[in-house]
Amino acid sequence: MNKIYPPKTNIIKNAYINREQYVSMYEKSIAQPEAFWAEKAEEFLDWITPWKTVFSGTFEEQNIRWFDGAELNVCYNCVDRHLADRAEQTAIIWESDDPNNSFKITYKELHQMVCRFANVLKSRNIKKGDRVCIYMPMIPEAVVAMLACTRIGAIHSVVFGGFSAQALENRIIDADCCAVITADESVRGNKTVPLKENVDYAVQRSPNVKTVIVVKRTGKEIPWEKDRDIWYQEAVQKVSDDCPAEPMQAEDPLFILYTSGSTGKPKGILHTTAGYLLYTALTFKYVFDYHDGDIYWCTADIGWITGHSYIVYGPLANGATNLIFEGMPSYPDYSRFWQVIDKHQVNIFYTAPTAIRSLMRQGDELVKTTSRQSLRLLGSVGEPINPEAWEWYYHVVGEERCPIVDTWWQTETGGIMLTPLPGATSLKPGSVTQPMFGIVPALVNKDNEELNGEAQGHLVIKKPWPGMMRTVYGDPKRFHDIYLALHPGYYTAGDSAFRDEDGDYWIIGRIDDVINVAGRLIGTAEIESALVLHPHIAEAAVVAVPHDIKGNCVYVFATVKTGIQPDDKLKEEMMELVKQEIGSFAKPDDIQFASDLPKTRSGKIMRRILRRIVNNEIDKIGDTSTLANPAIIDELLQEHTKKQYDSDN
Ligand code: WT7
Repeated sequence: MNKIYPPKTNIIKNAYINREQYVSMYEKSIAQPEAFWAEKAEEFLDWITPWKTVFSGTFEEQNIRWFDGAELNVCYNCVDRHLADRAEQTAIIWESDDPNNSFKITYKELHQMVCRFANVLKSRNIKKGDRVCIYMPMIPEAVVAMLACTRIGAIHSVVFGGFSAQALENRIIDADCCAVITADESVRGNKTVPLKENVDYAVQRSPNVKTVIVVKRTGKEIPWEKDRDIWYQEAVQKVSDDCPAEPMQAEDPLFILYTSGSTGKPKGILHTTAGYLLYTALTFKYVFDYHDGDIYWCTADIGWITGHSYIVYGPLANGATNLIFEGMPSYPDYSRFWQVIDKHQVNIFYTAPTAIRSLMRQGDELVKTTSRQSLRLLGSVGEPINPEAWEWYYHVVGEERCPIVDTWWQTETGGIMLTPLPGATSLKPGSVTQPMFGIVPALVNKDNEELNGEAQGHLVIKKPWPGMMRTVYGDPKRFHDIYLALHPGYYTAGDSAFRDEDGDYWIIGRIDDVINVAGRLIGTAEIESALVLHPHIAEAAVVAVPHDIKGNCVYVFATVKTGIQPDDKLKEEMMELVKQEIGSFAKPDDIQFASDLPKTRSGKIMRRILRRIVNNEIDKIGDTSTLANPAIIDELLQEHTKKQYDSDN
């Protein structure tokens, strides 16, 4: 029996949407999608030229278009149009890593910053359609950089500041960027990361990068390339603060954001202008029930889609007051989130299960030293939230006052797809409940048959929606192969899910070789390719192991080349390689050396068996007689048991 918490109609008094409205709006969004979205497009955005058609195209033909013929500008919608009645309202509250440092930026100030920076981009000959890489700390200039790109029609590609120089280089080359915007260093938990140094390395092999714009964050001395590098703070002084917003076509590319896949290199997910902005604006307002005067805080990094959609575009399109946090939940201590909520009187708080679990482990006392009376709504995103963490978030953090919106979505979907709405949906700990407007989810089996009622299967989406990705940048075939081919006629999310008797959805996990570590996706293939760069490593296979806080951790099986003795030094070097190639956050938690890996006769590594071994599911290993090397199973099991014994003692 699932626990059910009915909508908090007493707290969410003025919710935009109650149960009946949800049902009728959802029905309209499915039965008359064109009328529904046309109405919402008028309500949520300012347009320069109206559209000719609301929607056209199919998944099969890969030609989905929303609001064709229309023109608009994203930056104008996020900033300029608010000046009439919100010029003096705070747009951004910045909370530094240092708890004694914070400041506010009004919409008027944001407008000036964005216009100046857009003029800096123009002065470096950056034009509509050019790709610009943004590799930044969580400082307001990161948002300014993104908006400045959209103002002139340049396509940004934000790379998370925790990615290594090598990962940055791959992304700069793949998108063929002409400029990189960065900072001297980033600061988190009182530790610095040499962003500019990483950029210097990354652009060595990208001759098309003609400009590197550097925000001075710490003042550390850094190498300087005279014709290529410019200081942000100096450059913005030299240009005017008048910069008209470029009219953009509805389907012009807006940004590229890389996400890990099961095979090959990360995919550059391409989002376009009108559909994405409308979808993030609408979902932000309804899911977080944002009202004028609310203070909203999403703890994600702008390097991920959550930061794009629910720190930058969704909130700013709604003229919201938005908190941007540079630091981390554990610095100076584990009460930082709650301290910041009190300091800035945050009403709406959106974070990830991994953070909730790690804070839960610190006990209730640290939470209870703070008031949190300002909180009205809590959100969760990035991975399944286990009911225990949900209950803690609900009872201890939100004091049973605040509904929790557990939002399922992806880089590819652009915005929230499955979620409760605070005034409309009964909450069930661990369930992402119901679809957003216009979203038709379904569960299908391997034969592409739709399952009815209570069922478990692959989660697919039946109809195109405005916020969906349009392609994989430079590789439409991958768009087709990964998202559209497995279940023809549907968008395949890559997750498996369960639908209960009430029709509520529960996300189970990935169906592909992608691991969700602390809310970040990493392809097993990516980590494996980094590991086999080591001259002593012959083969590596990466599997996920459930972890109390991170959701999953990364476990490696590796074989060494003939004549090599594996030891701890080799392990360290392997870890270092992952750090170099991808970034510290992808580092394996454990490495097990073996004389061989279980393989099929055609030489394919049987990851399924490796997963059973690390999860102690020996009885589920099944028939291994068809393997090329069945004898290896015993060795792997013994060594794994020994490792577990060693780590327990
Ligand atoms: C994958 C997408 C969407 C922003 C952050 C991640 C998992 C995401 C939930 C949730 C269960 C979730 C899915 C999804 N996921 N939110 N509320 N409950 N699982 O974006 O890096 O593109 O990852 O994250 O597996 O497919 P992303």
